Amino acid sequence: MTPVVARTRAELRAALAVSGRVAFVPTMGALHDGHARLMRHARPLGDTLVVSIFVNPTQFGPGEDLDAYPRTLDADLRVCAREGVDVVFAPDVDEVYPGGLDDAVTLDPGPLGQVLEGAARPTHFRGVLTVVAKLFALVRPDVAVFGDKDFQQLALVRRMVRDLVLDVEVVGHPIVREADGLALSSRNAYLTSEQHDHALALSRALRVGVEQATVGADAVLKAAREVLDAADGVDVDYLVVTDPLLGAVDDTYEGEARILVAARVGTTRLLDNQPVVLRKGP
Ligand code: PAF
Repeated sequence: MTPVVARTRAELRAALAVSGRVAFVPTMGALHDGHARLMRHARPLGDTLVVSIFVNPTQFGPGEDLDAYPRTLDADLRVCAREGVDVVFAPDVDEVYPGGLDDAVTLDPGPLGQVLEGAARPTHFRGVLTVVAKLFALVRPDVAVFGDKDFQQLALVRRMVRDLVLDVEVVGHPIVREADGLALSSRNAYLTSEQHDHALALSRALRVGVEQATVGADAVLKAAREVLDAADGVDVDYLVVTDPLLGAVDDTYEGEARILVAARVGTTRLLDNQPVVLRKGP
């Protein structure tokens, strides 16, 4: 089935005139198997499945890869057709930012937007939450599906929905990985094959760390750090264990947690994370 492609707000409104329950997957395009899995998960959650394809300028900082970010609309539309998407919203910047990119009214992500990714990219989550709020206002989804790979983004979207009392159910989907363990990301396209091999240290470090779950958070971090320190070509930005809401934990913490890593491989910044249940052994 070929999806309806809406390029303007008016076309989107027309496409959604009779839509029933709407499931929504927001994306920046360059769709890969991870996105396809989000769509597959979202498909049965609504009568109408909407995917947005919009490279959002305001979530890129100065010197980041906005201009180089892969734009592959024709291939993306084929993925959407395969996954049974009903409507693709692929607007120009003017449709989403009619007043220009320096909107006076934006969304403040609060303290959670300043740590981890936010420490390295101070304006990133303001841009993400502002565009997600705009997309929610335009698409009016009942349910929206986001990947766990951008775990801080997912946590902030959930917080935004709660704090602004938005009537959208937010669903997270586990990270989709290549057979060798690398978390799928549109930015993997920037990696040379040597860098791809180097990047495998991220998922390996998380796996090795998780094996120490019965010893405690410090042991998890130490084991993961050893893998990363021994790896070639990996420049670690952060490696942390947090609670599921990204709060700090100490070595006495027990229960559900996340181990998260961000690192630069060449000039490409990569993220990965894994759930871990910390329970001290007997
Ligand atoms: O995760 C992404 O692709 C983007 O951050 C999102 C949620 C589509 C907002 O631009």
